[in-house]
Amino acid sequence: MQSVKERILDIKKQKNAIILAHSYTSPEVQDIADFVGDSLGLSQKAAATDADIIVFCGVSFMGETAKILSSKKKVLLPEPEAKCAMASMCSAEQIRQVKANRPGATVVAYVNTTAETKTAADYCCTSANALNVVNQIPNDKIIFVPDSNLGRYVKEKSGKDIVLWSGFCPIHQCVTVRQVQEMKRLHPDAEIAAHPECRIDVLNIADYIGSTEAILKHCMASDKKEFIVLTESGMGHRLQEFCPDKKFYFTNASVCTTMKMISLESILDCLENETGEIILDDKVIEEAYLPVKRMTDILG
Ligand code: 13P
Ligand code: SF4
Repeated sequence: MQSVKERILDIKKQKNAIILAHSYTSPEVQDIADFVGDSLGLSQKAAATDADIIVFCGVSFMGETAKILSSKKKVLLPEPEAKCAMASMCSAEQIRQVKANRPGATVVAYVNTTAETKTAADYCCTSANALNVVNQIPNDKIIFVPDSNLGRYVKEKSGKDIVLWSGFCPIHQCVTVRQVQEMKRLHPDAEIAAHPECRIDVLNIADYIGSTEAILKHCMASDKKEFIVLTESGMGHRLQEFCPDKKFYFTNASVCTTMKMISLESILDCLENETGEIILDDKVIEEAYLPVKRMTDILG
């Protein structure tokens, strides 16, 4: 009798499928994936693959982004109800209203938005390239949606006239300066590495700020042996895999429950029965593709 893991690998081969997983998914999901990464890396992999089926182990906006970039491919979500709380804080209609009150402003949408929301954006960005994208845009008037924390960080660094949205990630928003100071007291030699979705006062006491992938690269290259990592705790698995001799500390509440809904069983079901397919209107795909394409074009 084959194990769930063996069945997944067999069907994956038969159907010419690829499994992509975000770094916040559970360790067993990351371990079975062909590629584990941040939003940017996953969307690039989705675009480059010649697989017929993409099984996207992540929240729904990530699967939608894969579909936008690979519209001819079948993109399946093992857990279609796994949504990003931040992505639901901003709709296309709301953006259009704000834009009408700020003529001439360029709308930059963090990739953590639905496909529908992206149709109202001029540019997309990820946490890895947000500052770079905003700096490259030939306009100082920007509306940044939906993450107010990432937006504030970009606003401070770029010096541009940026209107912020009131969205946030509940997991990163929960991290407080007091918690970080307490962790630092317990681990005085640890370096603080924070995701830019954290509050600005937390970012101000961080030694390093970057996307999940950037944090991984930083920790791998650093001489330091201990790190207080201010992002979702699923990252601990990758960090430990690539830096077995280093120690990583996370706050207790740093768990994205929707990312953790994805299991080996749901991956098997989705591959076997081709459930959870992302179906997007052709017009939505076409319009949502433009800001994503502008993002890659502007970065060269
Ligand atoms: P990354 O782009 O850094 O992977 O972040 C995605 C995310 O959802 C962070 O909460
Ligand atoms: Fe969304 Fe936050 Fe979960 Fe990332 S960690 S997917 S921003 S809810």
